Amino acid sequence: DSIRQHFEENGQGQVFAHFDALSEEAQENLLAEAREIDLEELDQLVASLVKGEDSSNVDMTDSLEPAHFIPLSENGGDAAVWQESTEKGEAALRAGRVAAFTVAGGQGTRLGYDGPKGTFGVTPVLKKSLFQVFAEKILASSEIYGKPIPWYILTSVINHEATLSFFEENNHFGLPPEKIHFFSQGLMPAVDSDGKILLAEKGHIALSPDGHGGALRALVRSGSIRNMEADGVDIVSYFQVDNPLVRCIDPAFIGFHLMNNSELSSKMVPKAYVEEKVGVFCEQDGKALVVEYSDLPDRLAEETDESGTLRFQAGSIAIHIFDRNFTDRLGSGRDEASKLPFHLAKKKVPYVDASGEVRNPEEPNAYKFEMFVFDALPFAENPVIIETAREDDFSPVKNAEGVDSAQTSRDDQLRQYARWARAAGIELEVDQTGLPSANFEVSPLFGDTGERFVAAWEELSHQPVLADGLVLV
Ligand code: UD1
Repeated sequence: DSIRQHFEENGQGQVFAHFDALSEEAQENLLAEAREIDLEELDQLVASLVKGEDSSNVDMTDSLEPAHFIPLSENGGDAAVWQESTEKGEAALRAGRVAAFTVAGGQGTRLGYDGPKGTFGVTPVLKKSLFQVFAEKILASSEIYGKPIPWYILTSVINHEATLSFFEENNHFGLPPEKIHFFSQGLMPAVDSDGKILLAEKGHIALSPDGHGGALRALVRSGSIRNMEADGVDIVSYFQVDNPLVRCIDPAFIGFHLMNNSELSSKMVPKAYVEEKVGVFCEQDGKALVVEYSDLPDRLAEETDESGTLRFQAGSIAIHIFDRNFTDRLGSGRDEASKLPFHLAKKKVPYVDASGEVRNPEEPNAYKFEMFVFDALPFAENPVIIETAREDDFSPVKNAEGVDSAQTSRDDQLRQYARWARAAGIELEVDQTGLPSANFEVSPLFGDTGERFVAAWEELSHQPVLADGLVLV
């Protein structure tokens, strides 16, 4: 009764419009969903974002500057510093200080795939799932550095059970099950343009994941941060579920993070073209930040320097290293001054109308609220941004077809294998883009970098022909 009354007093009584007609169990469910909603927070969000129609939290004035980053040694970076950082990162890995962290709570609507995105098959021959690719990379690094690397995976209620079953059915891909930690992110209600919470069904609120920024509070709430502390982990290697090329564990990146005493480190690649849908690293008032592609004004996105290079070229590929204590500080909400803001997205959300019918809108009818993890950047001490080679770190699967699709990502995986093969002296036919004509596959457990591929190849007693269907394991 008290929850219902609280909603009525706050102008959200419509949530209980059909309550009396529900079964006792359905009533309990609805109450449980309602209990999780912070109406005060929602009120503020509606006032500032929905009524204010403000989707960006960034001041787009001329004070926005491109961010500084550490270039690759082949692009002018100091090779000795890169070497030193690799060694520092390797030492941290040998000391068991590193965990992998994948955000996989998204709904993957653009891909049009029915199931957790991590279960989508991406490799050229075996169509191994994204989760399997990451698992093998993490296993390879665990073996190389002699310490099992714990893996934290953020899910949402929508895909949590299916994700767990997938790992169980596949024997956790050879990883020790006790080293894999699944936990669900929080949910936020969708509202209409008057800020009224929508019902998805008479007994269910229209809830959706609170954005990958919700990862930080979910890490705290789930006890994962405490778990890391007990395990001696203080370095959290963060990546998205959609990117099979990612170096899940990258010693040089870890080393830069440590050498700079950074609370949050990031990787950048120069943007491939002006409209590329990646956030951009910027600086404002002495703080680093990511401006999302949809928020960066065209005049800034298109600006070039005297050499013709995009001024705002530092694309964010959503690969970060979080310091554990920093994550705890932000995720716990202890520090009022460093709270992640919410962003607004207008979406089509099916809803129950006043008469109790479910309506499927043709046009966006509702607002969703999401936090973005990269909004943590301005709160971090000593943030570091390093350049990485796109071809060895980033080829996401986002769309069913065209750019950033399963096809482009498969081709990029093949190009990487072909570069490694040629470095090992193998003769291989490739086109002008470096794409080999043969469709083969290399498991990260055979070699997860060019150097390790070459070493493993040289040790083979029988070196096979890299032909269609070959899999190097
Ligand atoms: C994202 C970044 C963009 C970056 C690009 C690189 C945002 C808003 N933008 O774009 O700056 O350049 O990736 O590929 O993230 N996720 C959750 N929970 C959620 C929402 C998303 O875990 O509530 C996860 C997804 O499972 C996925 C990742 O976050 O792993 C990215 O989400 P998505 O919405 O696809 O971001 P993009 O628009 O592609």
